[in-house]
Amino acid sequence: MGKIAGFYDSGIGGLPYLKWIREHSSGLTFRYLAESRYFPFGTKDEAAIREIVLDSIGRFIDRVSPDIIVIACNTASVTALELLRRTYDIPFVGVVPAVKPAAMISRRKSIGLFATNKTVSQMYTQKLISDFASDCIVEKFAMPEIVSFVENNIFTASKDEIIEKITPAAEFFRKSNVDTVILGCTHFVYLEEMFREVLGPDISVIDSREGVGRHAISLLSALPERNTDDLSDAFYVTSVAAMPENYKAISSNFGLAFGGEI
Ligand code: DGL
Repeated sequence: MGKIAGFYDSGIGGLPYLKWIREHSSGLTFRYLAESRYFPFGTKDEAAIREIVLDSIGRFIDRVSPDIIVIACNTASVTALELLRRTYDIPFVGVVPAVKPAAMISRRKSIGLFATNKTVSQMYTQKLISDFASDCIVEKFAMPEIVSFVENNIFTASKDEIIEKITPAAEFFRKSNVDTVILGCTHFVYLEEMFREVLGPDISVIDSREGVGRHAISLLSALPERNTDDLSDAFYVTSVAAMPENYKAISSNFGLAFGGEI
């Protein structure tokens, strides 16, 4: 008996979300799918992202029968969440930029949004801002190289290399005079500590892990236990040939067995 929580991202960005939920729950089985075949999403057009996500999530559902799926990717959520909900009959938890909490804590009502090109330009994000942060100035910054850098190098890069990579973003936000920065791409969550260090104590850095995690746990706790014969936690990819070399090591560091291709 058990419940299976599924996670999906273009790469490793969703793993910190899985980790948060695992640390705050018990009795769940975790299954993660990384879209290694089509990484990255942030520079693709909407139609392409929708098609990729819809197709892969269909195969993920068939293969692992999750009780819920966390779309642990802001770009996929702001682009394809509504379509997923219309298409598949299981609960989806979206991961979108933490605009509402940022607006609540921003003292000067001046917020930075650090996300992919696609997320910063999507209507969904504009609506989030007009619904929850209409009294704030929101300065947006996208940098696709950082997504690839995190995906391929975050566990091997030196501190100096990481700081060099994030400096243009940090400078942009400092010059924009924001007091709160939203990490609106799940890959950027890996940079949280460095970002805090570079931005200094006057700028808060926030992400959506806790809000998403609590929502996912509450949805799961309302669902009935069901018979599942395999309770092992696993990490899958959509293409073994296209995945970075260190994926097996990364998945095992997050306590997930490598499950191969879906
Ligand atoms: N991790 C993803 C996000 O939250 C997408 C990064 C990408 O594939 O460009 O937006």
